[in-house]
Amino acid sequence: MTAKLISGVTIGKEIREEIATSVLDLTTEGCQPGLAVILVGENPASQTYVKNKEKSSIEVGMKSQLIKLPDTVSEQELLGHIEELNSDDSIHGILVQLPLPKHINEDLVIRSIDPNKDVDGFHPQNVGKMIIGQEGFLPCTPYGIMEMLERSGISVAGKHAVIIGRSNIVGKPMGQLLLQKDATVTYCHSRTKDLPSFTKQADILIVAIGRAKFVTADFVKEGAVVIDVGMNRDENGKLCGDVDFNTVKEVASAITPVPGGVGPMTITMLLKNTVLSAETALQ
Ligand code: GUN
Repeated sequence: MTAKLISGVTIGKEIREEIATSVLDLTTEGCQPGLAVILVGENPASQTYVKNKEKSSIEVGMKSQLIKLPDTVSEQELLGHIEELNSDDSIHGILVQLPLPKHINEDLVIRSIDPNKDVDGFHPQNVGKMIIGQEGFLPCTPYGIMEMLERSGISVAGKHAVIIGRSNIVGKPMGQLLLQKDATVTYCHSRTKDLPSFTKQADILIVAIGRAKFVTADFVKEGAVVIDVGMNRDENGKLCGDVDFNTVKEVASAITPVPGGVGPMTITMLLKNTVLSAETALQ
């Protein structure tokens, strides 16, 4: 079997076109959605992510505000910036790029963001709402994966979804969103014994472990849907996922590439959350 490609570039573009229309409507009604991003320090990966978020928000017509702070910034000063953005009516989404320098308490920073502007979906209030199925901001990567599945016509109800990875940003919330759509969910992680015995049962396999080409064809059931959240460099310095794409595509029925898979969806859902926030503010 050669798998169907699930393209985050194509699906993301389609959603961003819908977002641009909503942004125009909101702007006409006097409420241009605004996204503020805070970047602390000079981490090259974070700089790239932030640049892409800024570019994408401008492309859909949003107001974009970037606050760059040195890695010597005090926790107090950072909290001061967040407080200012919390009470700025022209800002509907606030994102503090992670990771933060060690002297800053990440949990405290996340909790200081107004939950109604927490477009990352990281605030405990939004995490709690997600778990009990109440409306709130969903974390962008798992939200984007659910959109990819839905828009590719892949139903999850009754399917066995296996997730490798248990981070707060991807693995844990991914399982919750799949559960809410009636999948049977298994979590695997670094301490799981005999990993392939679990992954070979998966109708839908989500891989988020951060190890280049870790999942090979012998991990995958014939006809499974494989979603690769990884972003690594291979031995030649080329971008690659956590899944060995070339072998797994021969076994899977559908697969996301890296780059061009989950990555573009994460930014897209950040923009979607910012629009939802502006729509709520206007009500
Ligand atoms: N660092 C890596 N991914 C993310 C993300 O989705 N949001 C934030 N704020 N920081 C990140």
